[in-house]
Amino acid sequence: MSDKELRVSKIKNGTVIDHISGGYALDVVKILGITGRERRVMTIAINVPSKRFKVKDIVKIEGRALNSQEVNRIALVAPHASINIIHNYNVVEKLVVKLPRVIEGIVKCINPACISNSNEPVTSRFYVQSEDPLWLKCHYCGYVLEKADVLQQF
Ligand code: CTP
Ligand code: ZN
Repeated sequence: MSDKELRVSKIKNGTVIDHISGGYALDVVKILGITGRERRVMTIAINVPSKRFKVKDIVKIEGRALNSQEVNRIALVAPHASINIIHNYNVVEKLVVKLPRVIEGIVKCINPACISNSNEPVTSRFYVQSEDPLWLKCHYCGYVLEKADVLQQF
């Protein structure tokens, strides 16, 4: 490592979300409900050089685990992210996020006239038409949601 480089510290215990597409780290942070006022060590790296992609973002959170709902939400904005669970400085688990073709129960349709927004007990269901840009088509009304529509709900 030359004196032109400054390597970001490893964390002792917690979660590293790596290989987030360049520019999407703040969306991931929002999904996790992080305000910046938590008493934790966190590192957010944006547009750092990556071998696999040209650039990538990284979010490191000391002392925090993710639940499955958070992992599912992250898949919507960072469909190729890897989630690393760190214990005692070691990567003890690596989970590669994958966006399924059908998304159920995670996102709500924004069409007020959609049957999924009536009093009927229906679970929302969307078909992924595109990952980047994100396009989700509602099974019930055909309305297409974009990433901004999705992020607004989290
Ligand atoms: N990491 C960390 N603290 C640790 C261990 C790992 O912050 N104690 C970070 C690394 O900097 C890296 C990610 O967690 O961003 C995954 O670590 P590792 O699997 O060691 O790196 P790679 O082999 O490069 O991962 P991949 O195979 O997913 O590219
Ligand atoms: Zn709908």
